[in-house]
Amino acid sequence: MVSSPVLVTGGAGFIGSHLVERLIDAGYEVDVVDNLSTGSLANLRTARGKGDRGLHFHKLDIVDGDLEALMMRRQPGAVIHLAAQVNVRESMLDPVGDLTTNVVGSLRVLEAARRTGVSKVIFATSAGIYGAIAPKDLPVREDMPHNPDSFYGLSKDAVLAYLRLFRASFDLEYTALVLANVYGPRQGMLAEGGVVAKFAQAIIAGEQASILGDGSQTRDFVYVEDVVDAFYRSLEQGGGLTLNIATGIETSINTLHKEMYRIAGGEYRQPIYSQAIPGEILRSSLDARRAGWYLRWHASTTLERGLERVFEWYEATVTRTSFG
Ligand SMILES: NC(=O)c1ccc[n+]([C@@H]2O[C@H](COP(=O)([O-])OP(=O)(O)OC[C@H]3O[C@@H](n4cnc5c(N)ncnc54)[C@H](O)[C@@H]3O)[C@@H](O)[C@H]2O)c1
Repeated sequence: MVSSPVLVTGGAGFIGSHLVERLIDAGYEVDVVDNLSTGSLANLRTARGKGDRGLHFHKLDIVDGDLEALMMRRQPGAVIHLAAQVNVRESMLDPVGDLTTNVVGSLRVLEAARRTGVSKVIFATSAGIYGAIAPKDLPVREDMPHNPDSFYGLSKDAVLAYLRLFRASFDLEYTALVLANVYGPRQGMLAEGGVVAKFAQAIIAGEQASILGDGSQTRDFVYVEDVVDAFYRSLEQGGGLTLNIATGIETSINTLHKEMYRIAGGEYRQPIYSQAIPGEILRSSLDARRAGWYLRWHASTTLERGLERVFEWYEATVTRTSFG
């Protein structure tokens, strides 16, 4: 039985907009808080199409918007907190800006939540909290040391400590989901998993894709609908836990590139290789068995199927307008 609304910060973004659709389908009223810095109302078009009654959009910044007044008025039972500065490189250029959105902004969300009687906050954190992991320790488990090597990873890690303290001090429940490289329809190119969007756009436009480094670096690509499912399950399960949300499978950037050409069909074009980003993590994959135990969750979409859906989406929505 669905009772109180769910408030989603960053709900007009890539992951958020898919999550909002899922919540509305399940019968929830959803309040979206977003400043539209990287998200857009266009992302919420499908959610709106499901009937206007379930969706309430609030253009608000989590750092200086009056979240408390909003939560007091709307009385959400749970808050899913996705709004963030999501660009790793930007965090290295502007660590104060990153901290302001990702730490101070998160603290504002937690403060407003506990003052207005929200029962649970579900937080999106990143594999960047772990930093570089020795190959023998892959896929990385949640209990391994956290050594973030970007300010983005550091700010996402700091919020975990706040979540624990808010739970211990004020009884505000939480679940933190450590997302691997999420990909799927509507993804922008700047976010962590943006390489899929970058390749898809290059392939559709008939251009060579560019790869930073030699392409042997690996990532754990998890499909957005699977990620949404983990957030959805966290509404009722996983209290007090940090859980990896991933496939546990390493895929190299070169393999991804070839696989995307195979799926798209058409003439293969070699990528252009350029200098690697200094300090870039070479191998990454996360062990998601804990999410299996506590959320009964596992990634059910294969990379092949997920990539097919990405191309189907471009075919249906973007190709005609942007790529002629
Ligand atoms: N995409 C991935 O691969 C990935 C991996 C790990 C973690 N995450 C996390 O998942 C969450 C969602 O990421 P995404 O990929 O959907 O990115 P996104 O940029 O599409 O979504 C972020 C949303 O937050 C909004 N926002 C940013 N700053 C805000 C502010 N100050 N106030 C209000 N709204 C603000 C943006 O407008 C956007 O709609 C983020 O917290 C991100 O760190 C994403």
